[in-house]
Amino acid sequence: MRIIASVAAMQRLARQWRRAGRAVAFVPTMGFLHEGHASLMRRARRACGARGVVVVSIFVNPTQFAPHEDFAQYPRDPRGDAALCRQNGVDILFMPEAAEIYPPDFSVYVTEDRLSKPMEGVTRPHHFRGVATVVAKLLNLVLPTAAIFGAKDFQQAAIVQRMARDLNFPVEIIVAPTARADDGLALSSRNKYLSAEERRQAPILFLALQTAQAAVSQGPVPRGKLRKKIHRLIASQPAARMDYVEFFDPGTLEPSALVKPGARMALAVWLGKTRLIDNAEL
Ligand code: PAJ
Repeated sequence: MRIIASVAAMQRLARQWRRAGRAVAFVPTMGFLHEGHASLMRRARRACGARGVVVVSIFVNPTQFAPHEDFAQYPRDPRGDAALCRQNGVDILFMPEAAEIYPPDFSVYVTEDRLSKPMEGVTRPHHFRGVATVVAKLLNLVLPTAAIFGAKDFQQAAIVQRMARDLNFPVEIIVAPTARADDGLALSSRNKYLSAEERRQAPILFLALQTAQAAVSQGPVPRGKLRKKIHRLIASQPAARMDYVEFFDPGTLEPSALVKPGARMALAVWLGKTRLIDNAEL
């Protein structure tokens, strides 16, 4: 595995691969890598084949954090990250410096105007502008034939797919399933922030998804009724505080008045000072 920090070196390599017609599968991350990221690396290898190139980037992207969010404390473990990448067959680990990605007079952003508004967009109004901008930049630097995103961040994956479609990025966007702990908690770098007691209560998000799945499997349920049921369930955990729960069409992210199988559910829940998100098909 080769570790690359320089933007120019990354661009040189990417152009060589493209000239040689090699398949390149790319997994963008913010590091503190876990088994969820590893599952995307293995999916990337399947996408590009043994003769292809798997690239992982680690970049904690300042533009997707609001001033009050956890950018400065975001967990970092470059050694552990490199080891996990090696174990999962990664060829290139790209770790650019913020100063090279964002020059001081940086002034062009990618804004998605529709899918960015609900759910995460309500409390994080500039978040997806930062995500779309950095993903566009990384795609331009790595020039992958395929890029892999996790269903864990369903709204993010939908926005990236929409950006690739609307701006004609010549890349296939692949969405891979959510990796979970044995008790159902979706793996996340932010799980590190949870106290032992909060971690014990954290599977309530997964239980909420399962509860909604069970309810909807009996027949369509009005949104208000299902929402009440989920709110009550979350309130049963003393450390948990509901941020949002939504039921929506997976293609448009438009809310469903009557929730049926095939709809998607997403929720965000505070556990103490840590905000966790999860989602699933109902
Ligand atoms: P990060 O949170 O590090 O996640 C990187 C990728 O891993 C994302 O596509 C995310 O959906 C996926 N992922 C995270 N947890 C997962 C899990 N439990 N199972 C499957 N996939 C999982 O998402 C970002 O970074 C950033 O916003 C980024 C896209 C890199 C742009 O800065």
